[in-house]
Amino acid sequence: MAKKKCVMFGLTTFAQMLRVYMERYSDVEVEAYIVDAQYKNSDEFDGLPVEAFENIEKVYPADQYSVIIGLGYSKMNDLRKQKFLQVKEKGYVIQGFIHPSVIESMKECGEGNIIFEGAVLGYNVKLGNGNIIWNGCNISHESVIGDFNHFSAGTTLGGKTVVENNCFFGMNSVIRGPKTVADYTLVGAGCYISDNTEPYGVYVPARSVHLENKKSTDMM
Ligand SMILES: CC(C)(COP(=O)(O)OP(=O)(O)OC[C@H]1O[C@@H](n2cnc3c(N)ncnc32)[C@H](O)[C@@H]1OP(=O)(O)O)[C@@H](O)C(=O)NCCC(=O)NCCS
Repeated sequence: MAKKKCVMFGLTTFAQMLRVYMERYSDVEVEAYIVDAQYKNSDEFDGLPVEAFENIEKVYPADQYSVIIGLGYSKMNDLRKQKFLQVKEKGYVIQGFIHPSVIESMKECGEGNIIFEGAVLGYNVKLGNGNIIWNGCNISHESVIGDFNHFSAGTTLGGKTVVENNCFFGMNSVIRGPKTVADYTLVGAGCYISDNTEPYGVYVPARSVHLENKKSTDMM
């Protein structure tokens, strides 16, 4: 059966990786890369044509192509959000990607979510739009996730956690449920969050200590 057609917004290494994953694991083929005209300095990238966003409708019309957003968490995910909304405004469906190893019992899943290996989204989780969930994340039962959040590998949310919009979770961060992570919260890698967060708040764990008078091989 012919694959569905899609174009990738962004000339990032993340976009290249996503293309490989789509080809390996989905029924959607990436046929071109799209970038704002001011950043287009070549007609080809990664062996595919590059088209200016300003021309997208002429070359890759919305009735034949979806668009996947190959952008990460720059500006607390605002760049990805901005492009997502601009692409939608032109009438395109935003393509998502869910790796086949993902285990999920979601109640709702919005548009354009990208979910990598081994993530678990438990009973009745609600997921908004444009989120990126990396490998091994654990979003526990009845959590409610808004839009344009970024969950780095190994993020764990307790049951009934609420995550608003545009948050960033560093690797192996843990949120105790049922708490609310407010808009634009930055949770550093390795954090344990035990209470609601403040909008735009930055949370970091204690730093590891280097025991300068010790040598590993003397200890184990
Ligand atoms: C929280 C985080 C963003 C901070 O970034 P950073 O590059 O370490 O920050 P910097 O070293 O530039 O420090 C910025 C400020 O925060 C302070 N800070 C950073 N980490 C801190 C910590 N653990 N404890 C206390 N202060 C800390 C610094 O002292 C500095 O303060 P100043 O501006 O007053 O000098 C980073 O540690 C982190 O967790 N990043 C996510 C990593 C990750 O999971 N990546 C996966 C992507 S897929």
